[in-house]
Amino acid sequence: MSERELLISGNWKMNHTHFEAIQFVQALSALLRATPLRAGRALSVHPAFTALRSVQTALESDGVPVALGAQNCHESEKGAFTGEVSAEMLKKLNVSYVIVGHSERRQHFGETDELVRAKADIVLRHAMTPIVCVGETLAEREAGEAKGKVGRQLEAVLSARPPAVVAGMVIAYEPIWAIGTGRTASSEDAQQMAAFIRATIGHVAGADAAEGARIQYGGSVTPDKAGELLRRRDVDGLLVGGASLDAESFHEIALAR
Ligand code: 13P
Repeated sequence: MSERELLISGNWKMNHTHFEAIQFVQALSALLRATPLRAGRALSVHPAFTALRSVQTALESDGVPVALGAQNCHESEKGAFTGEVSAEMLKKLNVSYVIVGHSERRQHFGETDELVRAKADIVLRHAMTPIVCVGETLAEREAGEAKGKVGRQLEAVLSARPPAVVAGMVIAYEPIWAIGTGRTASSEDAQQMAAFIRATIGHVAGADAAEGARIQYGGSVTPDKAGELLRRRDVDGLLVGGASLDAESFHEIALAR
């Protein structure tokens, strides 16, 4: 278990209308009142853009100890980008964390390492924290290329940044073969890759950056797998997809030890 604050994040992907999202927050709020988080843990939820405003209001009016997150943003300040959402718009909704470079965006929307870096830039410029996703495919893992792939993804997004900035970032290790497949990485695999990610941060941005940055694991996290993952030294939190859609299972994951 690390000494960094653990961050457990729910990535709702394209699920929950704003009505469903409000119901989720009300349910989670009641669960957290009954059984609060232990010290050293933080939560974030990442609704679709259409539910951000409703979730913000529900969290703030009830004083729910959960940060608001987004799943993506555009890399430009503003302009003629029909259908896109800017970092400034998110910041105005009190969004704290923005996921960038999720593998689904890299895969289905052609996001490159350069674009992911530009998105991290604009998130940081607006004083929010990027959750930068990295991870390898099954073919890459089987070919022994997992570390090479993840190392390149990290270098592209982290190089030439002040160490203090890198220290404040969150990296989510999400092996693509584990996402939505029910095939969670073993806690040993998660620890090994998290340790590799920390070492790479150290090479790119120095020891203080490596010590401060938080590394999440994501990919088929469930309440019964969460505790074992969170006990690993270099795993500082979880990025949860499917199991974060239900308030009870997300709450169980948040409490896991
Ligand atoms: P699942 O937990 O549904 O596998 O999704 C993981 C993920 O992609 C979180 O960003």
